Amino acid sequence: MERSTSRPNDLDAFWMPFTANRQFKQAPRMLVAAEGMRYRTDDGRSVLDGVAGLWCVNAGHARPKITEAIQRQAAELDYAPPFQMAHPKAFELATRLVDIAPEPLTHAFFTNSGSEAVETALKIALAYHRTKGDGARTRLIGRERGYHGVNFGGISVGGIVANRKMFGTLLSGVDHLPHTHDPARNAFSRGAPEHGAEKADLLESIVALHDPSTIAAVIVEPVAGSTGVLLPPKGYLERLRAICDRHGVLLIFDEVITGFGRIGAPFAADYFGVMPDMITCAKGLTNGVIPMGAVLVRREIHDAFMNGPEHVIELFHGYTYSANPMACAAGLATLETYADESLLTRAAELAPYWEDALHSLKGLPHVIDIRNLGLIGGVELEPIAGSPTKRAYSVFVKAFEAGILIRTTGDIIAMSPPLIIEKAEIDELIGTLAKILKTVD
Ligand SMILES: Cc1ncc(COP(=O)(O)O)c(C=O)c1O
Repeated sequence: MERSTSRPNDLDAFWMPFTANRQFKQAPRMLVAAEGMRYRTDDGRSVLDGVAGLWCVNAGHARPKITEAIQRQAAELDYAPPFQMAHPKAFELATRLVDIAPEPLTHAFFTNSGSEAVETALKIALAYHRTKGDGARTRLIGRERGYHGVNFGGISVGGIVANRKMFGTLLSGVDHLPHTHDPARNAFSRGAPEHGAEKADLLESIVALHDPSTIAAVIVEPVAGSTGVLLPPKGYLERLRAICDRHGVLLIFDEVITGFGRIGAPFAADYFGVMPDMITCAKGLTNGVIPMGAVLVRREIHDAFMNGPEHVIELFHGYTYSANPMACAAGLATLETYADESLLTRAAELAPYWEDALHSLKGLPHVIDIRNLGLIGGVELEPIAGSPTKRAYSVFVKAFEAGILIRTTGDIIAMSPPLIIEKAEIDELIGTLAKILKTVD
């Protein structure tokens, strides 16, 4: 049967991820082009990108260096097998990446997404302990409201109920820290909140409950993004680090969102001055243009695997597209763009302006909390009684119609613009949002 792209039921075959499919297909929102800070829609409107695509397009859209690198790579070497073979850009990217990573992290394992980076880090943690003769350390600790992607390891250590409840028993041997959201004490904090560092001490109880000898790793987002921007209370991450150190437990920071300049330093570990044993990253690694993730590990962890006979594979793990040449080319060009334009620290310069702009929304209807760090902002709305998420969703749709792209999760509006944003564009983003908040029921 002949098919026409303009027919409404042409939207039928694509089962959209994390989307209310039926609602979307009745009133689709289509993006057809992008450049710099803006998208263009299929009806010719310009939309200011307030979320860097999906927390990933940190250098803005259609950056020439990145586009050209991908084009060149596709023509030169489209694919190379990553098992027992390699291509030069994989090594080059790993070297550049550990150059900008926090100092203790010296090796990079490539994946194709944040979810895969998380699975890889959890597996490395388990295998590391076993390699060292400490194979009873099998338990993994995550946190309520944590988001670590959508694969089984990630949803097991993750703490977003909707992402877990449909999918069976998940991984066994997982426990969770409490989340750090405490609006009663911390609402409208500017930057990291004052109260709640003691919530890290519950790790001590969890470790004691299971016995330290059974715990492999703790994984947390330094700043929880997908759940709606939850910031670590002052001193919280330091306490987690100290407890992990005390008990020989590995600490993994999931920096899929915070990596690559989002909060004003290359990684959140740098910003907070707390060094994990592994970092998972993705998104900004290639400016979101080609799927890629990575796990950055300490030398001791890497070297623990390098002890057996030299002809034996040290880690039975990897993906067909690990260190894919196109992704490596995109990654190298992205890191170059960040360096050329000092983007990995630009959020620190803009943070005070961003903070003031965001907090100017205080007092508008339904706004019950505002949170910010670097170029991340969260605006929490009072849910409509009996219809949670509806109010924020309606703000999201109106915002898109008014020419700004924001994101909502539950009744929280999350924003994370490309790091190239100018002050006038911050005014446009927050000014438009303010107008919408004044009109929404
Ligand atoms: C902290 C964190 N970890 C993991 C992921 C999963 O990344 P991906 O969607 O690339 O699999 C995300 C995605 O938003 C994330 O924010």
